[in-house]
Amino acid sequence: MSNAFRYGVYGVGRIGKVHAAIVQEQGQQIVAIGDDVQAAVDAAQRELDLPSVQTFNDAAAMAQALAGKIDAMIIASHTKDHARHALPFVQAHIPVYLEKPLTDDLGEAFAFVEAIGRNPRQIQIGLQRRYDPALLHTKQLIQSGLIGDIREIRCILRDQYPPPPTYSSRGLIIDMGIHVADEAIFLLDEFPNEVWASVHRTRGYDSPIDEGGDTAFVTFTTASNVLGRLDLSRTHASGYNNETYIIGTRGTIHTGRFAGYPGPIHVELWQSNGKLHPESKTFEMTYLKGSYPEFLPRFDAAYRRAHQQFRADIEAGAPFAVTQNEVLDAQVFVEAAHRSAQHGSRRYRMQRFDDLHQYRAACIANGLMDNEGGAG
Ligand SMILES: NC(=O)c1ccc[n+]([C@@H]2O[C@H](COP(=O)([O-])OP(=O)(O)OC[C@H]3O[C@@H](n4cnc5c(N)ncnc54)[C@H](O)[C@@H]3O)[C@@H](O)[C@H]2O)c1
Repeated sequence: MSNAFRYGVYGVGRIGKVHAAIVQEQGQQIVAIGDDVQAAVDAAQRELDLPSVQTFNDAAAMAQALAGKIDAMIIASHTKDHARHALPFVQAHIPVYLEKPLTDDLGEAFAFVEAIGRNPRQIQIGLQRRYDPALLHTKQLIQSGLIGDIREIRCILRDQYPPPPTYSSRGLIIDMGIHVADEAIFLLDEFPNEVWASVHRTRGYDSPIDEGGDTAFVTFTTASNVLGRLDLSRTHASGYNNETYIIGTRGTIHTGRFAGYPGPIHVELWQSNGKLHPESKTFEMTYLKGSYPEFLPRFDAAYRRAHQQFRADIEAGAPFAVTQNEVLDAQVFVEAAHRSAQHGSRRYRMQRFDDLHQYRAACIANGLMDNEGGAG
């Protein structure tokens, strides 16, 4: 890369500061930060050692002031504000790294994609599993055909702790589920056609925010007859847990079995003779000092790769690997699962279309949005 990128960052809570620190360590320059809440800006200025950076409390004003003056934006504000905060930067032709999901509300997510269009060079979404070395190796193993045809996939995401009191979440499935919904679509290369789900309140869970429960099970099927399951919780008392099983007609891949936190990330390919295939590999988490958000050791390498790739793609004029298009699909998936959990685990059908009008109409027909497009 030639010169350092000039970045702005809007939304500087837990993950906003993680992203800012990563790009600083990667030799990039942060020229402006902002947040709706001034106390968050103050804390970020101290923690990131940016005493004289330009600051903002309004995303639209920041976009207007920085148009033509920065190379990229990172947006990591509350989910409910993502689309509203990202739009002025996209309209100012500033490439945006936007945290997941697109919005809290599916109707608003459609409206956002309709406003900016399908061009994959505008926004890279913070679905970092797409850059995670262990999951990329898993994907390669699936593509190699070594496990045959996929019968079943199970993606597990379990936090150890509840979210911080500042956090906002429309529901456990919407907030956590989006990561593994996208992971399942990415690994299968297929969009689900039916989903049913349940959310539970397990014993002894005490959270500063109410998101409808602490544990959820999401079951789904695909047109090619894969059976899938997403397991979500915020109660894994022994540490952050990200695990994926892919069961095929000739073998099984098991990625990330819990082996301590932080600890090794095993990608194990078990063959039909009961033995491990030599393409099995072990990756390492990052061992960090001091205090850090619980998800950081597992995904530090993925965030770093995601930022490097973001800049490389901007410089090359190349499409980003995960954009408004992929996250919209994951959002449709989690909306259906969330609604199912709220309606006695009723089955919801899902269809995806490249054409946004058709896609929106299918979501309305399948009961995922009302006619005005609101998620209800
Ligand atoms: N990709 C990932 O792995 C990942 C991980 C965590 C969060 N996220 C996403 O990032 C977004 C932000 O999540 P987060 O975990 O950073 O939430 P957070 O609660 O730490 O921050 C969100 C907002 O809360 C306020 N806030 C935070 N700390 C504050 C402080 N010290 N003083 C005053 N106000 C404060 C700020 O307005 C901030 O923008 C969400 O959309 C979430 O879904 C993604």
